[in-house]
Amino acid sequence: MLNFSVNEELCVKCGLCAQDCFYGLIELDEFPRVTDEQKCFQCQHCLAICPTGAISILGNSPEDSIPLKGSLADEDMVATLIKGRRSIRAYKAEPLEPERIQKLLDVAWHAPTGVNSRCVHITLMDDPESVKKFRDEVYDRLEDALEKGTSEIPYVVNLFKMVCQQMKESNIDVLFRDAPHFVVVSAPQSAPSRVADMTIFLSYFELMAQSMKIGTLWNGILKRVIESILPDLKERLGIPEDHELGYAMLFGKPAVKYQRTIERGEARVRRVEW
Ligand SMILES: Cc1cc2nc3c(=O)[nH]c(=O)nc-3n(C[C@H](O)[C@H](O)[C@H](O)COP(=O)(O)O)c2cc1C
Repeated sequence: MLNFSVNEELCVKCGLCAQDCFYGLIELDEFPRVTDEQKCFQCQHCLAICPTGAISILGNSPEDSIPLKGSLADEDMVATLIKGRRSIRAYKAEPLEPERIQKLLDVAWHAPTGVNSRCVHITLMDDPESVKKFRDEVYDRLEDALEKGTSEIPYVVNLFKMVCQQMKESNIDVLFRDAPHFVVVSAPQSAPSRVADMTIFLSYFELMAQSMKIGTLWNGILKRVIESILPDLKERLGIPEDHELGYAMLFGKPAVKYQRTIERGEARVRRVEW
């Protein structure tokens, strides 16, 4: 049930909701109505575009939304957020407050997904003690697997060896960077744009985190360890069997502070004309 409803006192019958509907499912009889609820992919554009706030859908009414006029971040602030974002490889032991983690996840949850599937499955390990236990198991078993030999490509084997060596000899945690929390995203293999969806989710997660002074680190090494050395972790993390693993991301309070943006010069673009 979409629970599509129109406040007839507010509706000015401008037709913007009908024009903006991807599948053209809204008809303007006297007032807008949805012709085929089954086809609606629940993007809520009708609610978002209505100039008078007359449309409610899926239990959401315009009063639950944030008005956009005058509320959007300005372009220079967004540019600084993007250019000032850094991979954080040192974290404070102190965990984040649960409500801040929830806020971060809830905002990232608004990232776009192909056909609005919202198929991204978020596996969160927010308990620092669990992260430590998980981390110790990963190091122990990775070292063990490397001793026995793996079919991984030499470059990756050398990377894994370096990771274990750093931990053993110098107590440097290259894999988890002593972060108190991490997320792993996965998505059903049947989801049409799952790889993009998962990557976009984490990109939004990372930028929102940055704005909240929370550090993040994309963790390609952990993803590779799970996929090629310790595949049982996928199941033990509760990731459904038919899911593809997207990526892992560490997060927590940064123990480093960057002072300035870095500049990467102009974008390398190849213009084409037709
Ligand atoms: C997909 C992806 C995977 C990454 N995996 C790791 C990783 O496993 N360990 C790590 O320390 N950094 C990892 N990074 C961080 C990159 O090394 C980092 O983004 C890059 O060096 C640029 O630094 P910056 O993020 O501070 O701009 C990864 C980044 C991305 C985008």
